[in-house]
Amino acid sequence: MYKHKVNNMPETGKFITFEGIDGSGKSTLITEIKDYLENQKIKVFQSREPGGVPIAEEIRSLLLSDVFIGSAGETEALMMFAARFEHLKNAIIPALEKGEWVLCDRFTDSTFAYQVFGRGIDFSCVEKLSDLVHPNHHPDLTILLDLDTNISLKRITQKEEKLNRLDDNTDCFQDRVKEGYLKLSQKYPKRIKVVDATQSFDNVLKQTKELLDPLLS
Ligand code: TYD
Repeated sequence: MYKHKVNNMPETGKFITFEGIDGSGKSTLITEIKDYLENQKIKVFQSREPGGVPIAEEIRSLLLSDVFIGSAGETEALMMFAARFEHLKNAIIPALEKGEWVLCDRFTDSTFAYQVFGRGIDFSCVEKLSDLVHPNHHPDLTILLDLDTNISLKRITQKEEKLNRLDDNTDCFQDRVKEGYLKLSQKYPKRIKVVDATQSFDNVLKQTKELLDPLLS
């Protein structure tokens, strides 16, 4: 199954992912970090999951639609990884091979947070899928924006954004996702760095730049 290598070139780029519950401010942060890196003459490929390439964007529309109401968590996870395989093979790996920095809004940590901790599927199920789909590709750094779910829901409502199917906090789903993320950060403390998203945006940005700086040298 695993056959990613496109040009068999060394991957000199860096793979940075951004995680957190909805309303944590990931998209604004990614835009600012992109500018920060480009100002230092680094080429950036900005993407998101599920999505990033046409097939994965189609899978995204399906996953976020009401068609998936009542689906098994395992089905969601399998779809996420199908989208991820396409994204890795056709966008992320080629970019890394070109020496670009990939800034990705969500990756496999989201599947652990949402499908494992949120929906209750087995941790080992997602671990196996991750080993199958990207055994040799893991983010160099993951920025986890941590935010209280009450604040995040307030922010989303203020922006008058429509909640998608997976953003709902019915039955404390978002609370379980938030706690799940924190458990992941304890399991992988070197890779996943927690940034307190209740701080001012300027502070969140400053702290994220400080976490990125060691990768720049
Ligand atoms: P999106 O509107 O992009 O949410 P956000 O702005 O918070 O990133 O929708 C993506 C949704 O998909 C989000 O609710 C999280 C969910 N998701 C999973 O449940 N599992 C996954 O593996 C990924 C990548 C996303």
